[in-house]
Amino acid sequence: MNEILIVANWKMNPSNSKDAWDLAEAVKQGVAGVQGAKVALCPPFVFIPQILPTKNVELGAQDCFWEDPPAGGAFTGEISPSMLKNLGCSYVILGHSERKKYLGETLEMVNQKVKAALAAGLIPVMCIGEKTEQEMRQALNDISPEQASKLVLVYEPEWAISTNKNAAAATPEDCGRAIELMQKIAKEMFGDIQIPILYGGSTNSKNIKGFIESGAHGALVGSASLDAREFIQLVKNAAMH
Ligand code: PGA
Repeated sequence: MNEILIVANWKMNPSNSKDAWDLAEAVKQGVAGVQGAKVALCPPFVFIPQILPTKNVELGAQDCFWEDPPAGGAFTGEISPSMLKNLGCSYVILGHSERKKYLGETLEMVNQKVKAALAAGLIPVMCIGEKTEQEMRQALNDISPEQASKLVLVYEPEWAISTNKNAAAATPEDCGRAIELMQKIAKEMFGDIQIPILYGGSTNSKNIKGFIESGAHGALVGSASLDAREFIQLVKNAAMH
């Protein structure tokens, strides 16, 4: 668990495939020689097919559906975990606070999605907000320790997301405390397994080191992942912690 993981959540950006291609290529080139940190780019679904993963830049999605019938199914507008896996994705972000806020996603839905993603061989990057214990217990209900050992968790306080009004990043101390609590709950639920825990919320190239030093195994990065130069610097600074 030594390698730092930086997950780029592009959210609903950019607006066209050329810009998506350019951003992905710039990141791939910029982090090609970086040791000690790897990147997962999570573009909108429509741009995933055009981005090929490299050794240290893997691919992920920002969501998936909880049903995954082998031959597909009648679920209008949804994308199955197997479709993502077949496109070369390794990761899928699940339970992001924006999906809970704007789309009414519940912890039960997140739980079903986590199970479907694991069954398809994807690594869920599961976001946990401030109701830590409730969120972890419900979203990870009925998950075995073996399955849990394949997860990545994120401490993602909603108030820290850069695009929210009056947002400010958590302090490294807040982050360290939240990670300790999440580790304690994970231990109660699954025993002695190691689950990487990232931090998400207004991270940038300047504050990333503090989060890594406070115990985070990486970050889920929104706004700063849309600026290639800033993002590459963030990855480099995280790797040099
Ligand atoms: P931000 O987004 O880096 O723009 O704050 C983080 C997140 O949505 O988790």
